[in-house]
Amino acid sequence: MAADLSSATTDQTAPQTPSPGLAEAFRRLLGEANFTIEGVRELLHAESELSSAPDRVAIYERRLKPGDDLSTLARLFLLGGTASQADAERALRRAGLAALEESRILDVTERGVRALVRIVPHGELLIGCDLNHEVEGPGDPRVVTGINGPAILLAALTIRRRAGHALDVGTGNGIQSLLAAKHSERVTGLDINPRAIAFARFNAALNGIGNVQFEVGDLFAPVSGHRFDLIVCNPPYVISPESSFAYRDSGEQRDSLCRRITGLIPDYLNEGGYGQLLVSWVKEPDEDEAAAVRPWVEGRGCDAWLLHYRTEDPLTHAAKWNQPFSASAAAVFAQNVDAWLDYYRREGIQEIAFGAISLHRRQGPPANWTVTGELRSADGSASDQAQRVFDAQDVLRQSDGDQAFLALRLRLAPEHRQDQVLKVHDGRWQLAEATLRLEQGVGFTGTLDERTAAILARLDGSRPLRESLGPEDLELGLQVARRLFELGFLERLA
Ligand SMILES: C[S@@+](CC[C@H](N)C(=O)[O-])C[C@H]1O[C@@H](n2cnc3c(N)ncnc32)[C@H](O)[C@@H]1O
Repeated sequence: MAADLSSATTDQTAPQTPSPGLAEAFRRLLGEANFTIEGVRELLHAESELSSAPDRVAIYERRLKPGDDLSTLARLFLLGGTASQADAERALRRAGLAALEESRILDVTERGVRALVRIVPHGELLIGCDLNHEVEGPGDPRVVTGINGPAILLAALTIRRRAGHALDVGTGNGIQSLLAAKHSERVTGLDINPRAIAFARFNAALNGIGNVQFEVGDLFAPVSGHRFDLIVCNPPYVISPESSFAYRDSGEQRDSLCRRITGLIPDYLNEGGYGQLLVSWVKEPDEDEAAAVRPWVEGRGCDAWLLHYRTEDPLTHAAKWNQPFSASAAAVFAQNVDAWLDYYRREGIQEIAFGAISLHRRQGPPANWTVTGELRSADGSASDQAQRVFDAQDVLRQSDGDQAFLALRLRLAPEHRQDQVLKVHDGRWQLAEATLRLEQGVGFTGTLDERTAAILARLDGSRPLRESLGPEDLELGLQVARRLFELGFLERLA
């Protein structure tokens, strides 16, 4: 049973969609005050993520500067603090406190001004979400989360080629939809939680993005019978005994929601379209990392790239997802962890894996394929690498053995990087260690010996691979080039 979200239909706890004029005035004043990711990180001395954990917030509060507009905006919209009316009026005069109060962005009382929305800068976007994990008391299922690691991971993996109609299932605050809006004609974002839809609409307006629409509904129900060029989904993938939070718990047994969504995506993809989602699955200790996920994708008319990110033991998993966000939650932390551990024991769950699935709807020949890999990190955008991986598999399966492969003109992807460690040996520098990685991608790295590094240096795409390798390096070069091509390190020139 999914979380009960029904009271949200008449919700006064979510922001209203601001008028275009108010949204623009608000966006501009935030920009002019340097309320950007760089600006607030510098002010708060924050590391990569702007944490909302109580201990971090306590530290950030002490970095704010009196009489400084950026400090007032950070106090209100990032730290959930109260500002004096005078400070708030000065920092927000361009938009006006009354208009912001009317849109349920601010609450103005005699005790001061506080924000009702957390606003986090993310690249060029401003993303509004709930200020803490309690909308109306602890454990409210309707809470709408902000920018977090999984959201960034899915955004990094998303294939950013031009798309007609894109779909974002479980849109939450709308982040994936707003990012897709940049390279899609239009985007539809869906969520079962009406508060999430209110936040997504708020965020579209705040960012002045018009080619997105958001609808309340269960999974794909609102778009039944439609097909899309891109589908993204960051579902409530956490394997838990609960249905407490819409963003976290599916309310379904084990990994059945992730399996179900994966199985549905192909039915909603246009030929040539991509579907990408984050998933969690029950991993048997003696199985390959992604073995359990293969049957989810096979026979569904898609090529599939399965990436395993990490596997956790039940206690690590339960502790991470019950992390206390407030003093009241801290009191029930141990209780929750024990309840989750009991559930895993009852279900015989010993390992919980997490990763991402990318699907490409393609009618053969060649027959649809499934490949697996390890996702180490998502640095920047992995979009180009993902497209090269899909292209490489198709080419390798179409081409007639080594001869056709050797006829390709291949070069190292522009975002590759080779790090070399040189040591002195017999009075001269010698290569001790070399690693190859992509500065934008899913974090695959490879170590190179001197000969392989020399072979790679010749792959500039100016000649067919056979000529670049030459007869003496043909065998090793072929092996290396094939592997790097499969991993998305090499691009194919026409
Ligand atoms: C992990 S959050 C992802 C939010 C956002 N897309 C992101 O990337 O940060 C999962 C979202 O799925 C929504 N959700 C949960 N069950 C759903 C369902 N059955 N149908 C549609 N959306 C659902 C939740 O309300 C939540 O907003």
